[in-house]
Amino acid sequence: MQGMRLVSHLVMLTALLLSNQIFAENLARKNSSDNIITNDKVSKGQKIANRICAGCHNPDGNSIIPSNPILAGQHAEYITKQLINFKSQDNNPAQRKSSVMEAMVSPLSNEDMHNLGSYYAQQKPNPTAAKDMTLAKIGEKIYRGGNLDSNLPACSGCHSPNGSGIPPHYPRLAGQHTEYTITQLRAFRTEQRANDINSVMRVIVSRMSEKEIQAVAEFISGLN
Ligand code: HEC
Ligand code: HEC
Repeated sequence: MQGMRLVSHLVMLTALLLSNQIFAENLARKNSSDNIITNDKVSKGQKIANRICAGCHNPDGNSIIPSNPILAGQHAEYITKQLINFKSQDNNPAQRKSSVMEAMVSPLSNEDMHNLGSYYAQQKPNPTAAKDMTLAKIGEKIYRGGNLDSNLPACSGCHSPNGSGIPPHYPRLAGQHTEYTITQLRAFRTEQRANDINSVMRVIVSRMSEKEIQAVAEFISGLN
């Protein structure tokens, strides 16, 4: 029984990884020049960040408000993708819903969004620590090993063992506010957030209990 589960678990993870890999390679090829970080992009991004974003995400992207994500050190491509997803294009509804962020991105051009990605990717994330170590220990098991009983893959496979993610498509999670991570995992579960290519996170979160969501989020908050 356990053997069969392990096999189907591995098959699912391989399928998820492959489908994402193919997508990632296509996008990377298409946008290869957009993805290069230059001083010019960073300084243009910084101007917009100081003017519009700093109040909620802090000037250097180390947000101190638990519902506002930390952006410092996040991959440029992931930030740019999210900004594009928050914007409603050609009268189509935005792919990622957030009334706050929709208003923020509406005046931004595609170039602005690339500049902002470059700026935040260059900022240093502050060191963080988990608050509830007992819960974080439970979360660590899920993060590193998943859950064979529910076919939940390990988060570390895509988000890397230290939580720094794998650019361009697997975001950095390390040190993120517990509250923000919980909100996103719940949003994937209810499909309120549905901008993950091939439903990758929606499939994963459908296999998680509320307790597992809270534990893994607590562990992630202390990853550095
Ligand atoms: C009024 C507060 C506020 C302002 C100002 C603001 N944001 Fe946000 N931002 C938020 C909140 C809240 C979220 C989380 C939305 C959600 O729950 O999905 C968010 C999410 C994001 C995300 C998604 C991060 C992730 O890890 O997926 C990015 C990227 C982002 N903001 C960039 C920006 C940029 C760039 C600006 C300036 C142009 C900006 N924000 C201005 C509040 C704000
Ligand atoms: C097969 C690869 C894969 C695995 C395994 C995986 N993720 Fe993800 N995850 C992704 C991708 C891809 C995204 C980006 C979705 C998008 O483009 O918006 C993501 C996004 C996220 C986000 C949103 C980050 C943000 O800043 O808003 C969170 C939180 C997250 N994953 C947590 C987890 C947790 C916890 C686990 C383990 C239980 C996990 N992931 C396992 C691929 C994966």
